[in-house]
Amino acid sequence: MTPLADTHVHLLAGLDDGPETPDVALAMCRTLVSQGVGYVTALAHQNPDYPENTADRLRAAATQLAVALREKKIPLSVHPAGEVMLSADTLDEWRSGALMSVGDHRQWLLVEMPHDGFLDVLPLAGALRPEGVGLIIAHAERYPPLLDDPVLTREWIAAGCLIQVTARALAEAEGEEENALRRWATDGFIHLLGSDGHGIDRRRPELTAGFQRLTKWIGRRHAEGIACARGEAVLRGEPVVVPPPAPIRRSWLARLFGA
Ligand SMILES: [Fe+2]
Repeated sequence: MTPLADTHVHLLAGLDDGPETPDVALAMCRTLVSQGVGYVTALAHQNPDYPENTADRLRAAATQLAVALREKKIPLSVHPAGEVMLSADTLDEWRSGALMSVGDHRQWLLVEMPHDGFLDVLPLAGALRPEGVGLIIAHAERYPPLLDDPVLTREWIAAGCLIQVTARALAEAEGEEENALRRWATDGFIHLLGSDGHGIDRRRPELTAGFQRLTKWIGRRHAEGIACARGEAVLRGEPVVVPPPAPIRRSWLARLFGA
């Protein structure tokens, strides 16, 4: 099978709430390889909790990890990234060079919502688009205003955003959340898969079960397109083709408007 790509995993030891030591980071990498993963982000948070996480710091730490992987002969391709918490300053921070794009390719910026809110990303997406930069919405399933609103999700996708979903959420979702994620999957709203792994004893990086559930819902070819080919393209800075999502179903409209 084509290698899986984990587009959201914290691997930079000591830089955030991810692995505390290089050994834990390497153990996470071995776990990922054992699942058939070939490409990963080496990312850390970029938000006010971690003011020292400059782009240069993340870049240097990812290079160190790549060297360690080569020395240990662990066959995993690592790509630096920041998990950027959105704020009113994000555009200025990007233009100042403070933020690390995915793979350092200046093509995609991985963004998450602030702890206490849900922001409209369209102004930022519109400002970045002419510069050839798109937004990846990290662990998008966490945000009910998005998950429950296909009109909004379509707007964000039309503005060039990619929707990233956490594999564990796919694997473990039940009830209404499962229904919503399945609708996202079958309607073409899921673009990328990530583990959001943070360690070995806690929040271990796991892609397999989520990938299997995605395969069950949309078939192997489409699941591999998300979890393998598109993820690899994003991490390597290659062109990314995103088919438009399916038209909004009557059942969605009925849910939204009580029709
Ligand atoms: Fe994360």
